[in-house]
Amino acid sequence: MSFLSKHKVIETNATLLLVLSLLVVSIGGLVEIVPLFYLDNTIEKVKGMRPYSPLELLGRRIYIREGCYVCHSQMIRPFRDEVERYGPYSLAAESMYDRPFQWGSKRTGPDLARVGDRYSNEWHVQHLINPQSVVPESVMPSYGFLKHNELDGSLVAKHLSTNATLGVPYSDEMIENAAADLAAQADPDADWEGVEARYPKLKLGDFDGDPSRLTEMDALVAYLQMLGTLVDFTAYDAEANFR
Ligand code: HEC
Repeated sequence: MSFLSKHKVIETNATLLLVLSLLVVSIGGLVEIVPLFYLDNTIEKVKGMRPYSPLELLGRRIYIREGCYVCHSQMIRPFRDEVERYGPYSLAAESMYDRPFQWGSKRTGPDLARVGDRYSNEWHVQHLINPQSVVPESVMPSYGFLKHNELDGSLVAKHLSTNATLGVPYSDEMIENAAADLAAQADPDADWEGVEARYPKLKLGDFDGDPSRLTEMDALVAYLQMLGTLVDFTAYDAEANFR
């Protein structure tokens, strides 16, 4: 039987075609799925990643509560135009402590994965109070009320321990000190030694322009200012792939 006529046998017999198709597809499936059972972790470890500080974690909760993700993504895709606009493309490890992750799929505004350090705290506060005052064509709504809302930190230790249950490496020491670290990060007069040792590369000091109060604005700006700043990309030549 020639090759062509063998093919004809398969193509004219629906059952045989189905069985052979399933066989081929399942080989492909097995090759992709089986290795996952033998890997502890599919995320490559990256230097610099650490869990969120208590203030950043509460800022992140405000980001989620206010629906910032409806207009902003946090995922720079590995395309040249994105890398040139936003910086090195996002690594899986950079969102490994995100519960839930904030990659998003809608960009009414720009991607925020590396917005940390791009503007001053004052710029962020002004922009959140009145976006059009700094970017006249902006369609972003105002979030000025965050500056009047006292930050509720009463459950912060529980937030940390819940995250720890889900696999985020918060130590007992971090959980014990959560309330103190929450207050210390945004207090210019605090002793920063402990909180800095627990959360390297932490942004310290007043964020909302009023050092006497700890507000939701402090937490949100602290969170925005750390986005994308933990991994040192001078050590990775991320752009090499695009040149
Ligand atoms: C209705 C859509 C919308 C929502 C909701 C929204 N934004 Fe925006 N955002 C925009 C647009 C559009 C821009 C670009 C113009 C500008 O800078 O204001 C922007 C810009 C920004 C920028 C500046 C980014 C850059 O690289 O210049 C930051 C930071 C930001 N938004 C944070 C937030 C935060 C935090 C929230 C939630 C409290 C939020 N946004 C909610 C639409 C939105």
